[in-house]
Amino acid sequence: MLKRPKITIVGAGNVGHSAAQWLAAKELGDMVLVDIIEGMPQGKALDLRQAAPIEGYDLTVVGSNGYEETAGSDVVVIVAGIARKPGMSREDLIATNAGIIRSVVEQVMKHSPNAVLIPVTNPLDAMTYLTCKVSGFPPQRVIGQSGALDSTRFRTFIAMEVGVSVEDVHGLVIGAHTDKDMVPLPRFAHVGGVPLSALVSADRITAIVERTRRGGAEIVELLKTGSAFIAPGAAIAQMVEAIVRDKKRLIPACSYLDGQYGERDVCIGVPVVLGAGGRERIVELPLNDQEREAFRKSVAAVREQIALLKL
Ligand code: APR
Repeated sequence: MLKRPKITIVGAGNVGHSAAQWLAAKELGDMVLVDIIEGMPQGKALDLRQAAPIEGYDLTVVGSNGYEETAGSDVVVIVAGIARKPGMSREDLIATNAGIIRSVVEQVMKHSPNAVLIPVTNPLDAMTYLTCKVSGFPPQRVIGQSGALDSTRFRTFIAMEVGVSVEDVHGLVIGAHTDKDMVPLPRFAHVGGVPLSALVSADRITAIVERTRRGGAEIVELLKTGSAFIAPGAAIAQMVEAIVRDKKRLIPACSYLDGQYGERDVCIGVPVVLGAGGRERIVELPLNDQEREAFRKSVAAVREQIALLKL
């Protein structure tokens, strides 16, 4: 008998909730929401079920404060932790979130040993590395959400600049998921097949790149009490969809490198093909000298984050 995919989201706060909503809208699978706050994941799960007759999704959604309900999940999104407030960088969250990720991953691996894990908690690159090490899962099954979000921000700002449909805008962001060291790649961006450089001046491209890097920070400054969650939730849903529908989508994501791009034993954003097996391959881009140098600096910054974990 065919069964629906089972998707667990650990951390039913802003991002977890938003992801669940996008996943339900796409009818991707049965869901379990887990959080430490009593009643909260149960309440949000019930709320999502009550929207189903209007939206027309046939899914079960349950909330829990434990992991029994999550057993045998196909995909587990890990978005538990604290979010940044104005004046904080993603790296400021590391001590608190590392403790949370350790305990969550230990539970998840016990109950869903064959799942694909999608860490989302910040600082993302270090938390993905920690998830790899604590779970011991093969790197194909641990893929952090970073580039899907950074790239949709990049594409949004390009579409706004050129005044065209977002559907025609393609572009990707690799490197660390940090304001300073993320690496948007305008040379690879295009609008309906037309290179970005044929449509936008070099100065404006620089401005778009800078706004992309600060895409999350701009929202933190506006919200004042937390960080972005709508686009992050959509980015999670894009990755989950690629996996549970075996779409083989080429999306940048935080991945463990074992020689690719000349780097070893580090997790950082690179283009990957996502399908039923998780990260099915890493795509190595023909970077020019400037891009390669930016990526190398980005890797160095992630290694500094990882060193703080004292593994
Ligand atoms: N197990 C399960 N849930 C936990 C745990 C834990 N050990 N520790 C904290 N949580 C839950 C909190 O109770 C909260 O509901 O994680 C949730 C986090 O939600 P928010 O505070 O709303 O934060 P959010 O904006 O969703 O961001 C979560 O994702 O994008 C990143 O930078 C962001 O690291 C942050 C994370």
